[in-house]
Amino acid sequence: MGMAVGTSRPAERHGALLCPMEGPAPGAGGLGIDPDDLPDGLVVADEHGRVVCFNAAAARITAVRAADVLGLPLEHALPLEDLNGRRWWTLTDPYGGLATRVGQPERNLLLPGGREVLVSARYVRERPTGPLRRLVISLRGTEARRRSERSHAELIATVAHELRSPLTSVKGFTATLLAKWERFTDDQKRLMLETVDADASRVTRLIAELLDISRIDSGRLEVRRQPVDIAAAVGRHVQAHVTNGHGSDRFLVRIRRDLPMLWADPDKIDQVLGNLLENAVRHGAGTVTIEVAPATTAGPADAECDEERGTAVTVSDEGPGIPEESMARVFTRFWRGSKRGGTGLGLYIVKGIVEAHGGTITVERGPGGGAQFRFILPVGAPAYLA
Ligand SMILES: Nc1ncnc2c1ncn2[C@@H]1O[C@H](COP(=O)(O)OP(=O)(O)OP(=O)(O)O)[C@@H](O)[C@H]1O
Ligand SMILES: [Mg+2]
Repeated sequence: MGMAVGTSRPAERHGALLCPMEGPAPGAGGLGIDPDDLPDGLVVADEHGRVVCFNAAAARITAVRAADVLGLPLEHALPLEDLNGRRWWTLTDPYGGLATRVGQPERNLLLPGGREVLVSARYVRERPTGPLRRLVISLRGTEARRRSERSHAELIATVAHELRSPLTSVKGFTATLLAKWERFTDDQKRLMLETVDADASRVTRLIAELLDISRIDSGRLEVRRQPVDIAAAVGRHVQAHVTNGHGSDRFLVRIRRDLPMLWADPDKIDQVLGNLLENAVRHGAGTVTIEVAPATTAGPADAECDEERGTAVTVSDEGPGIPEESMARVFTRFWRGSKRGGTGLGLYIVKGIVEAHGGTITVERGPGGGAQFRFILPVGAPAYLA
């Protein structure tokens, strides 16, 4: 039994234009997949090179109606050209070319009128090296890729800009000191070197943040899980701020007793807590309240039950908070609300780390009027303990 694959017109679905797939796939018994449900364009040609399937996404991408091309030879239905203007089907000759070919990798090709489209093809043969029985082509618009390319270009521009100002200062002060060393007093020299030192630290930190971001964006952020005492970690962070001169009355820590276990990457959790507390102190005001409590999280998609126990950490302050209209943007990179802001990467990294742990993070207006950030981490116990 094959999977019924036809066009969206019911009259044709069981008629001559039916293009049954190889079947049955394991577990796919009776699963009828309508090609119009596919997110990508799908074009199928039969053993004579005539189009037998042209789904809705293909029609949208090529701006051609399926009814107008069904039954036509492929080179008329889908007259693709490569970037040098050569006709793609003549060039690749899927029906006559090497019988060992199994397909074409994804390529950027042009439709009539110069519209770009990403095309890949699979050659379905009767038997290996046998004649082509079916040519299956998938089409994708290039907008999404273009958009991500544009966002990369913007990222590079922003990074260059962020690096330039501290480096300009480093360069300026070192050049001045080298040129006129004798003319400055020790105090002046010390002041300049302190500025150079601070700016060099800023560059180092920015680069560390950028490396984190590239790991987050490429899904390479590694989480080394071990049991974490999050209450102790919160205590350490508060202590560090108090040691740095903030009054201990600035912080209020509430730890619930019935906390579940937490398996997480302790260094990364430190990074999250460090950022949220630093933000509350730097951008917020008044008392910073940190609450650690048990919580239920939306469990992983494949779990039998859809809820899972976890730990919720809430950091709230009594400052100006985040304006309602900006709440959706605080977790994006380089967004900063005021001039006092840093690089605006902190919360993006925090969100990336929390999500790499399978958790979630949200922001809202706290009871004291300021910002309230809450992240929830699932227990995350390794499988052998489950
Ligand atoms: N507790 C808070 N109260 C008010 N505004 C906040 C708070 N936390 C964050 N913000 C706003 O969100 C912006 C983004 O925060 P984020 O931590 O991402 O960057 P940053 O603190 O400016 O720089 P970085 O953390 O990279 O040094 C901040 O610039 C600030 O305007
Ligand atoms: Mg920050």
